[in-house]
Amino acid sequence: MAEIIIVRDNIEAGNIAASILLKQITAVPDTVLGLATGSTPLSTYAALSRSLRHADLDLSCVRGFALDEYLGVPPQHPESYRSVISREVVEPMGLDPNRVFTPRGTGSNIEEAGNEYEEMITAAGGIDVQILGIGSNGHIAFNEPGSSLASRTRIKALTAQTRSDNARFFDSLDEVPTHCITQGLGTIQEARHLLLLAFGANKSRALAAAVEGPVSATIPGSIIQLHPHVTVIVDEEAAAEL
Ligand code: GLP
Repeated sequence: MAEIIIVRDNIEAGNIAASILLKQITAVPDTVLGLATGSTPLSTYAALSRSLRHADLDLSCVRGFALDEYLGVPPQHPESYRSVISREVVEPMGLDPNRVFTPRGTGSNIEEAGNEYEEMITAAGGIDVQILGIGSNGHIAFNEPGSSLASRTRIKALTAQTRSDNARFFDSLDEVPTHCITQGLGTIQEARHLLLLAFGANKSRALAAAVEGPVSATIPGSIIQLHPHVTVIVDEEAAAEL
């Protein structure tokens, strides 16, 4: 059973999530963080960046792995997840950019990129705390409904719903990539602690289904019910259907 913390807003949630992460990094200097993109984790990243500025911690051993990346978007594009993670995590927290990774979304032998990423995560000893958002259709990372519960990092097509949800980050819907490379549900499930965040009324159905509904590929977020250590931090609007 997940621990569910219902808070007033994303700022309060970010403060709580950041304190969990700070405690982890303080206890384990070579912590491996699992990093989500999207708007949900931004208050957590901002709060953790502030806390780290005041804490006298050696961050040189902290590592990070992003959940996913758009396919065919060059790393230097401002909306590549590589750029987002650099901007929101690596730079403000002062992490070593050479120890923070995103799946490769461009380059040759792209069908090998998933296996490469899995090997990197394994070589790092696995992920200690995986930060997760949830899509309005119940997806986590870019595992859209129908993804195998045992799936590993691989190339996937984005649904029309997710492309339209993410169109706000691009100039037009046409510019939103059609494919991505994403950690699988089986990969995510191996992280030692899952920290799921959700805010706003448009997440309430997906959140209730993930937390309380049947465990099913229809709602990829429902895999959290199979995990022994899950913390869910949500605002009252997202919690409305729990
Ligand atoms: C995105 C990301 C997910 C994220 C989700 C929700 O497309 N791939 O990792 O959790 O969709 O996004 P947001 O936090 O912006 O609502």
